[in-house]
Amino acid sequence: MKGVILAGGLGTRLRPLTLVTNKHLLPVYDRPMVYYPIQTLLDAGIDDVMVVTGGEHAGHFLKLLRNGKELGLRKLEYAYQEGEGGIADALKLAEDFADGGPVVVALGDNIIEGSIAGAVNAYREQGSGAKVLLKRVPDPHRFGVARFEGGPDGQIVEIIEKPKDPPSDYAVTGFYMYDARVFDICNGLEPSLRGELEITDVNNWYLGRGELTHDVLEGWWTDAGTIPSLYRATRLLAHKDGAPDPIDPLHGVSGA
Ligand code: DAU
Repeated sequence: MKGVILAGGLGTRLRPLTLVTNKHLLPVYDRPMVYYPIQTLLDAGIDDVMVVTGGEHAGHFLKLLRNGKELGLRKLEYAYQEGEGGIADALKLAEDFADGGPVVVALGDNIIEGSIAGAVNAYREQGSGAKVLLKRVPDPHRFGVARFEGGPDGQIVEIIEKPKDPPSDYAVTGFYMYDARVFDICNGLEPSLRGELEITDVNNWYLGRGELTHDVLEGWWTDAGTIPSLYRATRLLAHKDGAPDPIDPLHGVSGA
């Protein structure tokens, strides 16, 4: 299966950091943010990848990733998104790349502790439709949130984007699996009130036809698109695999 990393958008929530480079190239612990979703795809056996980006600093991706070989990618393609019309707008640009096949989509600011390999294999067996990965979070209002029939062990009945009053604390993470119909769905979407083509509308399209499955991610998950979540991502990565925290800001400060 092919992979698509969506790394467009203007990263306004990370200004002024994103005035000088693309959000997904900012450092998260010891590497640029986009390395993490690339590694997540590689760990799931996906080495044919398209990066969709945009904005003023798109050229920096080529400088950093080049042909992707050093990172272990077999093939790396790029697409340029004009403006920031939303996640589903960025995904449209991967239609030719997908070439009629299914795709695994990763948001360029999503970082996980574990692996999506099990979910990708399950989706391969599923054969068509879509699959999303959920994670229980303390702040569901920041995300797309699943409403279940009869609790989290039941079916999802609706996904609501950034609800004021979240119907559960299960966020839809930025890892999605779609069959080739996804491009027609994206092309048929209308912009939301925030002026974007919403990936949540794509997921609800599959849901409405009984063709959306879900798994719950093991291990921690974070986005890194705001200053607090970028900081949190760095701390989580610094502690990965039980490593002692190398960041002790008070260490050595006299009188602290
Ligand atoms: O992180 C998971 C969440 O991501 C989901 O729970 C939400 O349902 C989904 O809408 C999204 O929410 P955000 O508001 O956090 O998305 P954000 O605008 O930060 O975009 C996430 C990534 O998507 C970003 O790092 C790059 C890509 N993107 C976004 C936009 C708006 C694009 O490639 N192009 C775009 O125009």
